[in-house]
Order: sequence, then structure tokens, then C-alpha cells
Amino acid sequence: QLKIAVIGGGSSYTPELIEGLIRYHDVFPVSELYLADVKPGEEKLRIIGELAQRMIDASGKPIKLHVTLDRREAIRGADFVSTQIRVGMLDARSRDEKIPLAYQLIGQETTGAGGFAKALRTIPVILDICREMEELAPDAFLVNFTNPAGIVTEAVSKYSKIRSVGLCNLPISTKMQIAELYGVDASELFIEMAGINHLNWTMRLVIDGKDQTADFLERVAGASGISMKNIPDLEWDAEFIRSLGALPCAYHRYFYMKDEMYREMSVKHRETGKTRADDVKEVEAELFELYKRPELTSKPPQLEKRGGAYYSEAAVQLMKSIYNDTGDIQVVNVRNNGIIACLPDDVAIEVNCVIKSDGPHPLALSKPLPPQIRGLLQVVKAYEELTIEAAVHGDYRSALQALTVHPLVGDEQVAKAVLDEILRANADYLPQF
Ligand code: G6P
Ligand code: MN
Repeated sequence: QLKIAVIGGGSSYTPELIEGLIRYHDVFPVSELYLADVKPGEEKLRIIGELAQRMIDASGKPIKLHVTLDRREAIRGADFVSTQIRVGMLDARSRDEKIPLAYQLIGQETTGAGGFAKALRTIPVILDICREMEELAPDAFLVNFTNPAGIVTEAVSKYSKIRSVGLCNLPISTKMQIAELYGVDASELFIEMAGINHLNWTMRLVIDGKDQTADFLERVAGASGISMKNIPDLEWDAEFIRSLGALPCAYHRYFYMKDEMYREMSVKHRETGKTRADDVKEVEAELFELYKRPELTSKPPQLEKRGGAYYSEAAVQLMKSIYNDTGDIQVVNVRNNGIIACLPDDVAIEVNCVIKSDGPHPLALSKPLPPQIRGLLQVVKAYEELTIEAAVHGDYRSALQALTVHPLVGDEQVAKAVLDEILRANADYLPQF
């Protein structure tokens, strides 16, 4: 018996996860799979459930599928609980992206003022799920994909007893793109990533035991190439990359290319009235029409328009390595415990970890982070710590400081104005305030 509960099972990404569970069934023999969602998502959950059943039937794998609106039933006795929820759904994301733009700020769903709003809505719900796990599945692992994934992971580790791992597809997707750049299989390369979720740096690249970092930095200097579908892949200035001494992640463009990224989003919004959430709504509508077709028994290629490339790979790899006590290395979000010396012990970081049956064990970094990386990292982490306090306790003062310290806000008057608007616009989802 191996039971998995997927909370937010009605997500358009779920077929990707199902595909991964089928592909790895020999080494990760899930027998009970629960897809759970909330009442407003009932219709989507039904469509996903029917497609999932067709995919399972076509594969011939002995996976028993349950589709339910009863979260407790899904969680009870689970070995793994995976969370992929979007509190307030895409309408809330759309507001998160648009409110900051009205204050001449970057409007992004996982960082800056937008990501902050998402954290306030999400953390109370995730902590509710953790309390249900403490009661109904106390030994289960929580595998959290819900954004902002680093902040959510840290909130869980600070405010619940549940063992949890925060996951993002960016590290594995970056690794696949580097493998492609070098024309090798991903298994042949080792990359050292360090930082926090959506703000991590590739510090070192080793291929076949040979350190290729210098060569790698020359290849990405003055080039774009490595990015994600949801982020414009503006190229990195060559001198900037050389002086940084690492490859920033795709999301770093919001920080290091703030003005240009702002210009792109504000022009798009002015000319079309749209942000990424609106594009995603369109892709989703198209996806759900396809998902309804009875002849469809696999994940359609249209899903690749979303930013979640390799999401199921990351999820299933992690669960199968915990289940099999594999001891391989994966980049996941865990409690720092001194690995990044310039950050507190109890915060979440995103680094290489050895995955054992008791969870991920972070690997020591090969060298301390240089000041140009340390500086930005510490500031954004301080924002995250304050955001968690604001979200858990409904504390206005922490919220105001969180936004003020964030490099994409950085002004107390603007922070206050945008905070007040975020609290008003999200009132239905913020019982803590
Ligand atoms: C990347 C990030 C995810 C995020 C996604 C957004 O893959 O790692 O955390 O959810 O992009 O993609 P979307 O298609 O929803 O804009
Ligand atoms: Mn992510």
C-alpha cells in the first residue's frame, strides 16, 4: 500500500503528475491516488479525474484513483501529501500581478508585492492542511509545490510538526537546459545551486568529474537561452555574469533587470489589458477543452505553454528517492541549519540535498557565497521571514516592513499604499487580518 494525496488535484498540471506516476510506477508503486479539491473547483476536478482514469487505464498500472472534495479523506493514512493549490484561483493571481503595476512596481505572482499577497492568502490554508496531516497522517511527507514555495516551506517548518519538502521545477529545468547546452545527458553533470526558491544561483558546473564553471560562465555571458516559459529570456550582460561569478536563475531578471522587465509588463498591460494570469487563463481554457475529449489518454503538448516544465519529474523523482532511500542528489527547499552561513538556521533554502528515506539532507557548499550574492539573498530572505510573520499572525507591522525591505518595492509610502490595497482586495481570503 502506497497512498498519495494530491491537494489541488483539479489543477491543469495534474495530467503531468499522473504521467510521471505511471512512468515511474515500477520503482514507485503508488496503489492509492487521491485527487482532492475544493467545491468551486469541482467541475475542473471532475474533468481531470476522468482524464486521469483514462491515462491509468491505458497504462495498465494498478493505481486505484479516488476523486474527492473531502480533503480529510484524501489525507487520512497518506504516505505523501502533495499540495498544488491556488487560493483564490487565477482571478487572485491576476490581481496580484495588476495591483503592483498601478504603483509602478513589478507585478509577479511569486515575488515582490504580488508574491507577498499570494503568501498571505496561501500560508493559512497550508497550515490547515498541516494540522489535518498532524492528526490523520503524522508520518507523511508534505511535498509542496504551492507558490511562493520557499516561503510556504519555511512557514510549515516553523509552524507545524510535519516533515515537508518544498519543490520547484526551476532547478531541474535549469539542469536539463545546461545538459542540452553541453550535449550531454543530465545524469552526467553535477551542478551546485545555492540560494532560495526563485532566487538561486548556479555556482558550479562539473561534467565527468571536470570543473567546467569558467567555460560555462563564458557560454552564458552575453546570451539568453536558459530560462522558463513564463519569463522573457532577456540575455545576460557578459561583464555582469563574469563579475557575478555565477549564473542567476530565470527569476533573477526581475531583480537584475528590474527596469526592462517592468517596461515589458507595463507595456503589455497598457496595450492589451493583460498580464501572465490572463494568458494562463486562455491556455487553461484550451487545455480543459482538450482534457474533456474521451479519446485523449495522455498529456497533450499544449501543456508545455505553461511554466511548469519538468514539474512531474521533480515531484516523482523526489518521492521515489524518499521511498527507496536512494541517496541521490536533488535541489529542493529545506531548513537551512547552517548550510548557508549568512542566513539564520530556521529559514528555508534551496540547495543540493541527498535524498534519503528520512528526507533531504542538504550538502555543504563548496565555498561561501560572495558579497554580491550574499547581499541580495539576505535582503530577500528578510522579506520572506517578515512575510511569514505577517501571514501567520495577521501582523500589519511585519507586513509593512516586509514590503518596504523588498528590493522590488523599497519605499515605505509605496509599501503602505500597496499593502492597504492588497489587504482590501484580498479581504475574503485573509481571515488572519
Ligand atoms: C515556473 C515556476 C513555477 C510557476 C510557473 C508559472 O515553472 O517554477 O513555480 O508556478 O513557472 O508558470 P505559469 O505558466 O503559470 O505562468
Ligand atoms: Mn517554482
